[in-house]
Amino acid sequence: MKYTLMHKNTCVADVEIDEDTGVILNNDNVMAQEHFPIGVVHPLRHKETVDKAALNKWWTGRSIPVSRMGINDALETLGIHNSQMLLTKCLGLSLSDHYWVRPVGNDMTWENVNFFDNDFSDDIGDVLFGTTVKSLSFDYSSPDNTSDGNLQKRWKIIGGKRCLLKSGSKPYRQQPFNEVIASAILDKLGIDHIPYTLMWIDDKPYSVCENFVTKNTELISAARLLQIRPKENNENEYLHVVNICKELGIDIVPMLDRMIVFDYIIANEDRHFGNFGLLRDPDTLEWLGAAPLFDNGTSLWYDRQTFQFLADEIKCKPFNNTHGEQLKLVTSFDWLDLSKLEGIEDVFSSVMSDPRTQKYVDAQRMEMLSHELRQRIDRLAQIIQSQTPVNEMDMNDNDVDEDEAESYGMEMT
Ligand SMILES: Nc1ncnc2c1ncn2[C@@H]1O[C@H](COP(=O)(O)OP(=O)(O)OP(=O)(O)O)[C@@H](O)[C@H]1O
Ligand SMILES: [Mg+2]
Repeated sequence: MKYTLMHKNTCVADVEIDEDTGVILNNDNVMAQEHFPIGVVHPLRHKETVDKAALNKWWTGRSIPVSRMGINDALETLGIHNSQMLLTKCLGLSLSDHYWVRPVGNDMTWENVNFFDNDFSDDIGDVLFGTTVKSLSFDYSSPDNTSDGNLQKRWKIIGGKRCLLKSGSKPYRQQPFNEVIASAILDKLGIDHIPYTLMWIDDKPYSVCENFVTKNTELISAARLLQIRPKENNENEYLHVVNICKELGIDIVPMLDRMIVFDYIIANEDRHFGNFGLLRDPDTLEWLGAAPLFDNGTSLWYDRQTFQFLADEIKCKPFNNTHGEQLKLVTSFDWLDLSKLEGIEDVFSSVMSDPRTQKYVDAQRMEMLSHELRQRIDRLAQIIQSQTPVNEMDMNDNDVDEDEAESYGMEMT
């Protein structure tokens, strides 16, 4: 079926989508090349061309990933083969950006269909949360069809606000608690972030955050920004991000400084390039600045047994393999006042004070988490005190050797 790829009310190009597979077969009639998703238009022999494969990758990448917890059961309930087939059923509309597809010949506007203003159905969310059974009449108009990420999640309108509910993973279901603790840390440090609160559904914990994207802003992930141009030989991945943002008129360094320090503190293991980015005006395409920090729950030893807390290496993303190494990318710690984290232990106690928490995270585990967090804060303070000034380091050297790591005199994970 023929659609027009839309960016809010801007017609971008016509596309033909195979309803049986959800795949874009063709595109033509380009109307606003500059509004294509980033990475889709490539310079080829001095001529800008639409990369069909990249366009399709972007479109299918808009669907719920196969790695999403519970997706197979959900598709089974819906009687659908793959999540890409859900895309056209909600016109590809999302609550994180402003792209959608409009059947050719239809004159509906973004105002008529967007989920920022218009209500959406709970059906797909219910299916994704496993709280509904097979039916012949699901209402597919939901931003849940285009939500990303591995954790079970759904959008819900709560008190008129669009909120994202996110689960944790077995056995501890710790991510929602972590989001709340992380929010408190970010609050205390004065770092721009999305606040997360806790919600209980059927005695299971979920984190809740409001939509930080608005009708006039959209989220462009760092992963997509990196497709603007290839990495130069003299750039590591950090400089690739920093320089691209600079070329777009945004100084992302202060935000990256804060993100790297914060991720060190909470031992974040999942700050991949999809978990931070920039905000853009979807009408003017003007770059507005860094997006507030979000998705901080895959941290604080969320999936480890307590005896593994110290033994196991903590993964680090996106620029280095260890948090100690990544800290060396921080340009300035001047903004950081670790004394603001005095009393952060109270947040752990307050999460624990709800008796329902104990079913997943017992008091001993929570106590150890709080203790280990304090250790990391103290270690960070020591590292900052003994650090090599950043301008004496080779910022292009991605592979820091062991000797250099040892010169910190600290445990580097
Ligand atoms: N508050 C929000 N407002 C708008 N969009 C959001 C919000 N929170 C998350 N998103 C979008 O939804 C995506 C998935 O959310 P999130 O990263 O929190 O989920 P996740 O399952 O923890 O992801 P991951 O696979 O990285 O672990 C994000 O990459 C972002 O595009
Ligand atoms: Mg994420």
